[in-house]
Amino acid sequence: MFNSKIIAALAALAVSPIAQAASAQSYAWNNVKIGGGGGFVPGIVFNPSEKGVAYARTDIGGAYKLNSDDSWTPLLDFADNSRWNYWGVDALATDPVQTNRLYLATGAYTNSFDPNNGQILISTDYGKTFNVSKLSFKVGGNMPGRGMGERLAIDPNSNGILFFGARSGNGLWKSTDFGVTWTKVSSFTNTGTYVPDPTDTSGYNSDIIGISWVTFDQTSGTSGKATPRIFVGVASLGANNVFVSNDAGSTWSAVAGQNNTFIPHKGVLSPAEKTLYVSYSNGAGPYDGTLGSLYKYNITSGVWTDITPVSGSDLYFGFGGVAVDLQKPGTIMVAALNSWWPDGQIFRSTDSGTTWSPLWAWGDYPEIFKYYSYSDSNAPWIGPNYVDTTLGDTQIGWMMEALVIDPFDSNHWLYGTGETVYGGHDLLTWDTVHNVTIQSLANGIEETSIQGLISPPSGPSLLSAVGDVGGFVHNSLTTAPSTEFTNPTWSTTANIDFAGNQPSNIVRIGTGDSSQGKQVAISTDYGVTWSQDYGAADNVTGGKVAFSANGDTVLWNSASNGPLVSQYTNAFLNNSIFYGAATSKFYLSTNGAQTFAATAGSLGNSTAPFKVIVNPGVTGDVWVSTDVGLFHSINSGTTFTAISGVTQAWAIALGAPAKTGGYPALFAAANIGGVVGYYRSDDTGATWVQINDAAHGFGSASSNVLTADPRIYGRVYIGTNGRGIFYGDISGSATSTTVTPTSTTSTTAKTTSTTSTTPTTTSKTTTTTKSSTPTTTSNGGSGWTGPTACASGSTCQVSNPFYSQCI
Ligand SMILES: *[C@@H]1O[C@H](CO)[C@@H](O)[C@H](O)[C@H]1NC(C)=O
Ligand SMILES: *[C@@H]1O[C@H](CO)[C@@H](O)[C@H](O)[C@H]1NC(C)=O
Ligand SMILES: *[C@@H]1O[C@H](CO)[C@@H](O)[C@H](O)[C@H]1NC(C)=O
Ligand SMILES: *[C@@H]1O[C@H](CO)[C@@H](O)[C@H](O)[C@H]1NC(C)=O
Ligand SMILES: *[C@@H]1O[C@H](CO)[C@@H](O)[C@H](O)[C@H]1NC(C)=O
Ligand SMILES: *[C@@H]1O[C@H](CO)[C@@H](O)[C@H](O)[C@H]1NC(C)=O
Ligand SMILES: *[C@@H]1O[C@H](CO)[C@@H](O)[C@H](O)[C@H]1NC(C)=O
Repeated sequence: MFNSKIIAALAALAVSPIAQAASAQSYAWNNVKIGGGGGFVPGIVFNPSEKGVAYARTDIGGAYKLNSDDSWTPLLDFADNSRWNYWGVDALATDPVQTNRLYLATGAYTNSFDPNNGQILISTDYGKTFNVSKLSFKVGGNMPGRGMGERLAIDPNSNGILFFGARSGNGLWKSTDFGVTWTKVSSFTNTGTYVPDPTDTSGYNSDIIGISWVTFDQTSGTSGKATPRIFVGVASLGANNVFVSNDAGSTWSAVAGQNNTFIPHKGVLSPAEKTLYVSYSNGAGPYDGTLGSLYKYNITSGVWTDITPVSGSDLYFGFGGVAVDLQKPGTIMVAALNSWWPDGQIFRSTDSGTTWSPLWAWGDYPEIFKYYSYSDSNAPWIGPNYVDTTLGDTQIGWMMEALVIDPFDSNHWLYGTGETVYGGHDLLTWDTVHNVTIQSLANGIEETSIQGLISPPSGPSLLSAVGDVGGFVHNSLTTAPSTEFTNPTWSTTANIDFAGNQPSNIVRIGTGDSSQGKQVAISTDYGVTWSQDYGAADNVTGGKVAFSANGDTVLWNSASNGPLVSQYTNAFLNNSIFYGAATSKFYLSTNGAQTFAATAGSLGNSTAPFKVIVNPGVTGDVWVSTDVGLFHSINSGTTFTAISGVTQAWAIALGAPAKTGGYPALFAAANIGGVVGYYRSDDTGATWVQINDAAHGFGSASSNVLTADPRIYGRVYIGTNGRGIFYGDISGSATSTTVTPTSTTSTTAKTTSTTSTTPTTTSKTTTTTKSSTPTTTSNGGSGWTGPTACASGSTCQVSNPFYSQCI
C-alpha cells in the first residue's frame, strides 16, 4: 500500500504529559466515504468459535472489525502522532476460547523508516480498547511478505499461550500470560534466510522476512493443556521451511518429506481432516510471485501431496490465500497471489484438492468464461475495469493473500486484494451452477493515503489527491464517489489546487505514470472533466502545485525538476534560477508569474517550513508553519509574528469565519503547549481550541494534509497517511482558556525553501515536504519481476510498474 516514508525525526515528537494546552472543543469526526478500501488488505481472520466475529488488518490503515451488515468498524483510530506505527498491522489473532480477546502485532517498518519498536496490542473487548505490550524489536506491517501469515497465533487449548514469529532474524517468541510478556523460544533456531533484494541499501527489501506463520494443531491436545503439535512456516527458499513441534514448542524439527523449493505463505489446518494445507510462492509478496504450489500434509500418515490446481504454461504465479470450509471438510480454496494477466484467479475444490474448478477460464481466445457476476455498488469508482486491458473486463484482483470462508456460513466468503475486500454470500452456488456473486465488501475500510485536499468556495465541498487510487470529486461526504479522476488517470495524484477567483478551475499533478500522458491536468468544471496541460515536459512529475487566482498560471514545484511556472498552458519555464536563490521564500507575483521576489521576514530558527497559506480576503496576509512554530505576516512577508505557544506546526488551513465578515477560522496540526494535536483558532492564533480527542489521533501529524471548508464554519478535513479522509464538525461548546498573547518578531533572517503564492489568491504551495519518494505502492509491482509470458496467441507488454498486459 502507499508507502509514505516517515522521517526519523518523528521520534523526537513525543508528547509532553503535563503541558498546559489550549482548551478543547468536542467535534464529530467521520470518514469521508470512499467506500472501497483503497489499499492492500493482507489479512482477514474469522473467529472459529463465535459466529460473526471477524477482523481485517491493513498495512498502513490499522485494523477493522466486521459488522453483521458487511460493513467494517475501524479499531485503531486513537493512534496519534506518537503511535502512528500502530496503523501497520503485521498479524492478528482472535481467541477461539475467550472470543472477546483480540491481539494485533503492530509496527510499520523494520528499517529506518520507522524508528520505533513494535508492540502487541491486547484487547479483551473485541478491539474496542487495547493494552500495549511493547516488543524489544521492530514489526513490519508495511514490509515485504506482510501478506504471509498469520505470524501471531493463540493456543486453542490453552489460550493464555501465544506464539509470534518475528522478522529480521529475531526468531520465534512465546507468551504464557495472554500476550503481556514475551520470551524468545531459544530452541527454534531457523529464523529464515529469504530477503527480496539483498542490494537494497534502504533496508526495506534487504531485511529478513523471517517467520511467516504459526499454526496450532488443536486435534493433538486437550482443552486446558498446551497444544503439543505446532507448525511454523519460515521464509526461506530451497531450505527447510516448515517446522513442527510435538511437545508444545520445546523442541522443533523440519517436517519430513516437505518440498522446500518455494516459500510457504500460509499453513491452514483442516482439523476434521487432520490435514495442513500449505500454499507456496517463489517470492515473499505481495507484488511478486511467478511460480508456486499448493501442498497438503496428512498429519496422521506424514504424507505430503502436491495438489497444485494448475501446471505447465498455466502456472505463472505463486499462491497466497488458502481457505478451508470448517463445515465441509475437504472443501478448500486457494488464490493466485498475483496473476497479473488477464486477471487474478481463485480455485475451489470439494475433494481435498483432487479436482479443482476456477473462478474463470479461457474460452476460444480471447474469450473468457467468468463463473461469477460482479458488483461494485459499495464503491462504484473501483470498476468494473480497474485494470484496463485490451481484453476488456478484468476484475477479480491482485495481491490475494487473505482468503477466508466464514466458519459458520459456507456461503459467506471474503478475500483481500491490493485495492479492496471482495466476497459474497452465495459461495455454495460455485458447486452447483458454478456461478457466484462477487461484491466489493470494504464498506467502512478507508485505507487511503491522502496527498492533498481542497475545499473550494463553490462547487463540490471537497476534492482529494490520493495515493494509489488517484483522487476524487467528493460530491457527497457520505456516499462513495462514482468515479476516480480520469483522463488522465494517474495511480497517484500528488497534489491539487483551485483558482481563488475562479474556483471551478482546478489543477492536479501526477507522479510519473508516463503512459498516462503529461503529469499536469487542468479542469474548468470542478474536476468533472480534465485535459492534459501540454505545457508540461514529459516525465516531469510529483511535488506540489498552485493555481493563480484567475486560473491562468500554474506554479509547480515539481519533485523531479524543481519549481516551474506556466502561463496559459504554455511551456513550463525552468525556474531553477530562483530555486537557486531559495534560502528565502518566494512569492508568486501578480504580473503573470514572471517575477518572484524574496522577502525579508524571519521564520525564527526554522529549518523546515512546512506549509504556506494565504488569507483569500486580505492582501499580504500569509501564514507559514514550520518545525519551530507558526508564523503570521500581514505585509506579504516583510515581517512575521511568531504565534506564541506553538512550538511545531505542520498542515494549516483557513476556513469559514465564526462571524460573517470575521477573520477566517485557522486550523493547524501543531504542537501547542507540548501537546501534538489538531487545533482551531478564531482569533488569528491568540487562543486555540483542541479539536481532536482521545479516539481520533489521525496518526503521523507530519504526513497529514488539512483543508478547511470556506462555507461551513468549524468544518475541517484531515487527509491521513493510511486512514483516508476525515471531516470534523463542531459538536459541543468550547471550554475557555487563553494561551499567552502573541509576541511580534520582525527580523530579516532568511527562510528556507518555502514557496509562496500571490497574496491575493487562495492558491498555496509548499516546497518542503517530509516524506520522500514512495518505495512501494499497493497497486502493483514497483520492482516487480513478474511473468512476461502470456497465453498462446499474445505477447506480454509491461505497461507500467503496476501491471503487464498481453496484446
Ligand atoms: C490492561 O492493563 C490493566 C492495568 O495493568 C489491567 O488491569 C488490565 O487487566 C489489562 N487488560 C488486558 C486486556 O490485558
Ligand atoms: C518440488 O517442487 C518443485 C516446484 O513445484 C517441483 O518442480 C519438484 O518436482 C518438486 N520436487 C519433488 C521431489 O516433488
Ligand atoms: C491420512 O492418512 C491416514 C493414514 O494413511 C488415512 O487413514 C487418512 O484417511 C488420511 N487422511 C485423509 C484426509 O486423507
Ligand atoms: C455467471 O452469471 C453472470 C450473471 O448472470 C453471467 O453474466 C455470466 O455469463 C455467468 N457465467 C457463465 C460462465 O455462464
Ligand atoms: C518518459 O519515460 C518513459 C518511461 O520511462 C520513456 O519511455 C519515455 O521515453 C520518456 N519520455 C521522455 C520524453 O523522456
Ligand atoms: C531545469 O533545471 C534543472 C536544474 O538545472 C534541470 O535538472 C532540469 O532538467 C531543467 N529542465 C526542466 C524541464 O526542468
Ligand atoms: C534561535 O535559537 C537560539 C539558540 O537556541 C536562541 O537563542 C534564539 O532565541 C532563537 N531565536 C528565535 C527567534 O527563536
